[in-house]
Amino acid sequence: MHTPLIDPFARAIDYLRISVTDRCDFRCVYCMSENMTFLPKKELLTLEELDRMCSAFVRLGIKKLRITGGEPLVRREIMTFFRSMSRHLETGALKELTLTTNGSQLEKYADDLFAAGVRRVNVSLDTLDDDKFARITRWGRLPQVLRGIEAAQKAGLRVKINTVALQGFNEDELFTLTDWCADRDMDLTFIEVMPMGDLGNEDRLGQYWSLKDLRAQIETRSALTDLPENTGGPARYVRVENTGQKIGFITPLTHNFCESCNRVRITCTGEIYTCLGQEGHSDLRGPLRASEADEVLEDAIRAAIALKPKGHDFDYSRQQIDGQVSRHMSHTGG
Ligand code: GTP
Ligand code: 5AD
Ligand code: SF4
Repeated sequence: MHTPLIDPFARAIDYLRISVTDRCDFRCVYCMSENMTFLPKKELLTLEELDRMCSAFVRLGIKKLRITGGEPLVRREIMTFFRSMSRHLETGALKELTLTTNGSQLEKYADDLFAAGVRRVNVSLDTLDDDKFARITRWGRLPQVLRGIEAAQKAGLRVKINTVALQGFNEDELFTLTDWCADRDMDLTFIEVMPMGDLGNEDRLGQYWSLKDLRAQIETRSALTDLPENTGGPARYVRVENTGQKIGFITPLTHNFCESCNRVRITCTGEIYTCLGQEGHSDLRGPLRASEADEVLEDAIRAAIALKPKGHDFDYSRQQIDGQVSRHMSHTGG
């Protein structure tokens, strides 16, 4: 028996987010620059190494595994990895296998994902307007994503939409988006834009739309009730009384949720980041490759978790951006 993973602030770590690629078929303006340089393929963990890494975490008590990127579904042969992870669902060691995706490849993979034991997907979608979608994602096309979402629901996957709240961009679609999700029985979570990645010409403060304000706008149409439920994640949920719909808010800038943080992240090169909002990280690829037995890796995982910081320092409150981290969101997978 292994002792569970507990960090220095007595938080139990049972949620792993792992990025399987830094590549993406979109170039969302708040996430990537248009001409990104990606890692050489040989830097990436192989599918076998991803399996070993995740399996070590499952042995150490990880119950929820979320596959991220970049866009996870553009990694070649990624379904082999999903299928192999499903063995941990079958033993009951893993409670949930899931992914966060831009939706572009869902039409192709929805059935395979369901067959591998995935039951829920989070799809990023910031607008329902074709032109605006093309503008914000630079390379994305909305109809393809909408077909992907439809395919996911048809395959039996529950869909949660993640929308980054952007001033002057999707404010006017607040009710279009909430109604669209309610009509399709999809959960919806709004995210405040975080200062990740040095994108040069992007104006973070100008983009920032406080979710306090967004919430007040929803309240002009319906009463909202705060829900006590907490998935251990950063989202706080409300029920919209008129429709019964559930809406989540992820407010790293206006509210600190770090005290109940249950997660760590692995990049596609096998670095572990114990906080999304801090630069600190440790290498796990070295220990993974150092030995065929997993003890070295497991020791390195425990050592990294012993360094998990208390929380992030994102802050816009002094009319300047504090706590910025230089890596892109696609590096750690959100
Ligand atoms: P569920 O609760 O399982 O639906 O998922 P989740 O909220 O953990 O995952 P999801 O990928 O939907 O996360 C949404 C976004 O919230 C991420 O992409 C990040 O932008 C942000 N986020 C998730 N975890 C953290 C965190 O620990 N810190 C901060 N600052 N933001 C986070
Ligand atoms: N701030 C907030 N959310 C972001 N995402 C990507 N970059 C940022 C950012 N700077 C979101 C995407 C997706 C998830 C993986 O992270 O929209 O929902
Ligand atoms: Fe790709 Fe997601 Fe980043 Fe957009 S936010 S560029 S879809 S990784």
